[in-house]
Amino acid sequence: MISTSLRPGSFSERLGMSFVEGARDAGHDVEFASLKGKPLRFCTGCVRCQTTKRCMLNDSAPAIVEKIRLCDAVVWVTPVYYYSMSGQMKVLIDRSNPLYVSDYNLKDVYILATCADESPDAIDGVVKGVQGWVDCLPGTRIAGTLCATGLPVDKDIGDTGFLEEAYRMGKSL
Ligand SMILES: Cc1cc2nc3c(=O)[nH]c(=O)nc-3n(C[C@H](O)[C@H](O)[C@H](O)COP(=O)(O)O)c2cc1C
Repeated sequence: MISTSLRPGSFSERLGMSFVEGARDAGHDVEFASLKGKPLRFCTGCVRCQTTKRCMLNDSAPAIVEKIRLCDAVVWVTPVYYYSMSGQMKVLIDRSNPLYVSDYNLKDVYILATCADESPDAIDGVVKGVQGWVDCLPGTRIAGTLCATGLPVDKDIGDTGFLEEAYRMGKSL
């Protein structure tokens, strides 16, 4: 699981943690990574990774991308920003470009998002972006999505039922 909100008390991170709890209760081996406090540089488009299978930039991305390469399922967790994924999540997706030419185990991709909007359609832009990534990685698919709506930062996710929904989703893996 990669949680990409940098906000202290992040709702999407709490959503992710509930999913993790469910997945662990179902017996899965789960690793949780947050981008909080991690150095993460933009992809420069040098495409050297397409011959070397590794990124030249020395920051937190290569280790996370290596974990994505080896895992069976990845869960992207993001707040909805301008009806898309968070910028930092997009940067990490760009930095995963070595996967394009690598062998990987990854099969199932899940997306968990939170947003202020009351409509679950608010996740559509996130899903579209992730679908573009999945389409470039043969054998992978978006296996599930969850959009926790009605969560501007002055609300509380605690009593919305979304944490329980995320737990059930994780437990059903
Ligand atoms: C820069 C920015 C852009 C946002 N854009 C949207 C948006 O397009 N649609 C929406 O419903 N909420 C939007 N929000 C609200 C957040 O998605 C929402 O409060 C979310 O629950 C925050 O998640 P977090 O606590 O994990 O960071 C935006 C918030 C920020 C800071």
